[in-house]
Amino acid sequence: MQNVDITKVNETVAFIQSIVSEKPKVGIILGSGLGSLVNELEVSHSLHYEDIPNFPVSTVKGHGGKLLFGKLNQQEVILLSGRFHYYEGYSMQEVTFPVRVMQQLGATLLMVSNAAGGMNRDFKVGDLMIINDHINLFPEHPLRGRNDEKIGPRFPDMTEPYALDLIAKAKAIAQQKNILVHEGVYIGLQGPTFETKAEYKWLHIIGGDAVGMSTVPEVIVAKHMGMQVFGMSVITDLGIRDEMNTITHEEVLEAANIAAPKMALLFKELVGQY
Ligand code: HPA
Repeated sequence: MQNVDITKVNETVAFIQSIVSEKPKVGIILGSGLGSLVNELEVSHSLHYEDIPNFPVSTVKGHGGKLLFGKLNQQEVILLSGRFHYYEGYSMQEVTFPVRVMQQLGATLLMVSNAAGGMNRDFKVGDLMIINDHINLFPEHPLRGRNDEKIGPRFPDMTEPYALDLIAKAKAIAQQKNILVHEGVYIGLQGPTFETKAEYKWLHIIGGDAVGMSTVPEVIVAKHMGMQVFGMSVITDLGIRDEMNTITHEEVLEAANIAAPKMALLFKELVGQY
């Protein structure tokens, strides 16, 4: 059992290259409610997922379901507007398929964003957190199965999943633009339930600052292929005792929408410096 069907990836890449001639250096994945970066993009091509061979199709409200190509701050990028979540029923291979396609199209940097619950007491709803590390609590690993050494090593190093130089650059940009950013550890788990109070407490104790249902599989696959990664969470709700309320998907989307322009500005500036 192989962890990736490279023939499918190649087929998809060949299809895209028959339409798109630009070579994007940066791949971007936008999380729930974080679509405002799309407005900053000078779009050259827009492909619906259902029109791309082998591409999974998105099912969740708030996810655009389009692969966009274009210039962001002078840089050629490829942007996944609406990601595939494990909780939707996709396999890990499907969840990470777009990352493999982006890399084969030429992307050497993956920028990921997500909506996340905050567990750090310094965090407020609407804050941004640069992801400086993660804890993988997904029940399945995207690299399980036979490994293709041509793609990456059997046992990938994960001591620096998120590039330290990009974190430093992002912090400098945030300071210059007067945007408050935190730094912290993202815990990825499968969902789709939000966490119980006891789970939030436990996730904080084991070292998490934010928790969500995405990102980690894509980052693992990107690192395996040798890409650099930059990640950011928008804190859409709080899993902090005494400050916790019930959580709905609508509230998560609303908080993400409000914070999205700040995140878009940071991503745009960072892309320009890559
Ligand atoms: N938990 C898990 N996923 C999330 C959360 C949360 O509190 N908020 C947004 N996505």
